[in-house]
Amino acid sequence: MRVTMVGTGYVGLVSGACFSEFGHQVICVDKDASKVEALRRGEIPIYEPGLDKLVAENVAAGRLSFTTDLAASVEGAEAVFIAVGTPSRRGDGHADLTYVYAAAEEIAAALRGYAVVVTKSTVPVGTGAEVERRIRAVRPDFAFDVASNPEFLREGSAIEDFRRPDRVVVGTDSARARAVLRQLYRPLSLLDTPFVFTSRETSELIKYASNAFLATKITFINEMADLCEKVGADVQDVARGIGLDGRIGRKFLHAGPGFGGSCFPKDTLALVRTARDYEAPTRIVEAVVAVNDARKDAMADKVIAAVGGSVAGKTVAVLGVTFKPNTDDMRDAPSLAILPRLIAAGARIRAYDPEGMTAAAALIDGVDWVSDAYATLPGADVLVIITEWNEFRALDLARVRSALNSPIIVDLRNIYRPEEMSEAGFTYFSIGRPP
Ligand code: UGA
Repeated sequence: MRVTMVGTGYVGLVSGACFSEFGHQVICVDKDASKVEALRRGEIPIYEPGLDKLVAENVAAGRLSFTTDLAASVEGAEAVFIAVGTPSRRGDGHADLTYVYAAAEEIAAALRGYAVVVTKSTVPVGTGAEVERRIRAVRPDFAFDVASNPEFLREGSAIEDFRRPDRVVVGTDSARARAVLRQLYRPLSLLDTPFVFTSRETSELIKYASNAFLATKITFINEMADLCEKVGADVQDVARGIGLDGRIGRKFLHAGPGFGGSCFPKDTLALVRTARDYEAPTRIVEAVVAVNDARKDAMADKVIAAVGGSVAGKTVAVLGVTFKPNTDDMRDAPSLAILPRLIAAGARIRAYDPEGMTAAAALIDGVDWVSDAYATLPGADVLVIITEWNEFRALDLARVRSALNSPIIVDLRNIYRPEEMSEAGFTYFSIGRPP
C-alpha cells in the first residue's frame, strides 16, 4: 500500500519506518527542510534505540523516503496519516490543533483519488469530525474518509511497541476506511493482535483515557510511597502485593519522582480541560495533575532534608535528567523542577546524563555538566539519582563512596537495594522504603 506520514516527530517517524518495514511504500513529510535533508542523509533527529538501523534498511530497500512536498506525497496514497505535534496551548492547557488543521487543509487540496485521512496525533474528542469538515469544505464532492488511529508506543521502546502492540484502535464508521486500515496492519493481525473498531469519538477518547489511567496508576503508587515512608512500610512490596491481583496488574506501579515526558502531563491536562468544557469533570484526573506537579517540588525538598535541611554552598551530584531512560527527551522531566529548586536554595549542581545533556543545558542554567557518572562525584555532599539509566545500576560503590565528600545517596528511582547500600556504608534515601 502507499502511505503518507505527515510529521516526522516521534510518532510520525517511528510509525512511518515501521509501516515501511511491514512492506508498504511510505513517504514521510515534514515542513522543516533541514530535518528532511538530515533524514535523507540517514541522520535521526531523536535518540531511539534501533530507529537509525530501521530507517536505513527501509530507505535502502526503496520503501521509505522523506520529502517536504506534501502535495506530491499525497498523490496516489491510500492512507494519509496526520502525525504532527499537538502541544499544550499556552494559558489554558487545551491541545493546540493548529498543526493538525493546517495539515488537513493541505492534504485536502492535494487529494487525487480516494484516501483515508488518519489522525495518529493525540487529538481531543471531536477533532476527527472537524478535520472531515475542513477537508469537505475544500473538496465538497470528493470521496475520502477520516479515521482515528491513536498510537500507544513508548519512547525508548517505540519500535518494539509498534511491532507488538497490546491492541490497535481504529475509529471510523466507514467500512471502506476500516478495510484500508486492516490491510495496513495486516502483519499484526497475523500475530493475533486484538483490533478495536469503534467510532471516531470513542477512539479519540480511548487514547486520553489510556494515558490518564496510567498516569493515575503512577500517582496512586507515588502517594502510597509517601505513606509507606511515614509508617515504615515498603512500597515495592505494596506494588507487588497489589499488582499480582490480575484486576490491578503489575505494570506502571513503580514509585518515583512523578511522571513526565511529552504525553502524560500534556494529555492529562487536555482531558481535564475537555471534560470541564463538556461539564463532566474528571475529578480524579484533576487530582492526578495537581499531585504530580507538587511531587516534583517535593523531590527537591527530599534532597534538602537528606543533607540536614540546607543545600546552601553544598555540591549535589546528579545522575540522569531525561524524563526516563533510553531517550534524550527532556519534556516535562522531573529534573526541570528539581534542579532549579536546588540551585535556588544555594546548591552547586554537577550532573551527567548519557543522552540528555545537550537538551537539558538549553533548559536549565547554572549546572556543571560532566562527561561521565563518576565525574559528578568528587567532593559532592550528596548523590541524587533522578533517571534510572541502566549504567547507573552497576556503579562501583566503593569508588562512589570514596569520591563523595559525605556518603549520602538520594535515589528517586529505587535502583538499589537498601541493605546493599547500608552495607556499602551509605546513608541511603529512596522512595517509599525503609532506609
Ligand atoms: C506514554 C505511554 O506509556 C504510551 O503508551 C503512549 O503512547 C505515550 O505516552 C504517548 O501518548 O505518546 P512515554 O511518555 O514514552 O509513553 O513514557 P512512559 O514509559 O509511559 O513513562 C511516562 C512517565 O511515567 C515517565 O516519566 C516515567 O518515568 C513515569 N513512570 C512510568 C513512573 O514514574 N512509574 C511507572 O511505573 C511507569
